[in-house]
Amino acid sequence: MSIRIEGNKIFLAELNEKDAVKLHEYSKEPELNLYSGPYKASESLESSREYIRNCRKNILERKSYIFGIYNKEGDLVGTIGFFDLDMENSSGEIGFWISHNYWNKGYITEAINLINNYIFNELKFHRIYAHFHELNKAVARVLEKTGYRKEGEFSESLRFSDGKFYSDIVYSIINSPKA
Ligand SMILES: CC(C)(COP(=O)(O)OP(=O)(O)OC[C@H]1O[C@@H](n2cnc3c(N)ncnc32)[C@H](O)[C@@H]1OP(=O)(O)O)[C@@H](O)C(=O)NCCC(=O)NCCS
Repeated sequence: MSIRIEGNKIFLAELNEKDAVKLHEYSKEPELNLYSGPYKASESLESSREYIRNCRKNILERKSYIFGIYNKEGDLVGTIGFFDLDMENSSGEIGFWISHNYWNKGYITEAINLINNYIFNELKFHRIYAHFHELNKAVARVLEKTGYRKEGEFSESLRFSDGKFYSDIVYSIINSPKA
């Protein structure tokens, strides 16, 4: 059964092999790779296809949930995923990106709200976290807008392309936190 999570401006769905060309093109955008390092799908068109096959397989096997983000015209604009699942502690990480042509349209804010609901209400997890480079201010903003709170930071744990060290910031959200 295929998964489709409906929003107002966008929907989330399993990536499809026909998305490989676009995924490969997007994944090479320097704007996307600035703070997170190159995406696996950027290496070649075949690695993009393999990435999509793995995402679909992992959803089937309930190992991770990486979805395409599509606008209402049905165009792939980015991805959002829930991975590194810690089943014992009911916790996992989210990660996301949008092609820079589609930034600041509210797409990721909506995508995070959709995946939060899916993770808490369908998958029944307790905690979701995200971590990001301290200079990546847009990520802090979208996480705060979607209910995440800062947990802390790993001081100067990231060596950046300018040779300097930066902190890795951690945010999280809890399903029904204790009063
Ligand atoms: C971070 C990212 C996913 C945001 O996607 P998006 O669809 O543009 O996000 P939205 O439009 O929903 O919201 C963006 C918010 O960040 C704000 N923002 C954008 N750039 C900002 C900056 N440099 N500093 C502070 N806030 C910023 C916007 O004003 C907006 O907030 P507002 O609604 O209060 O005005 C996108 O920039 C991206 O793909 N970046 C590269 C990949 C990446 O870093 N992924 C995260 C790895 S952890």
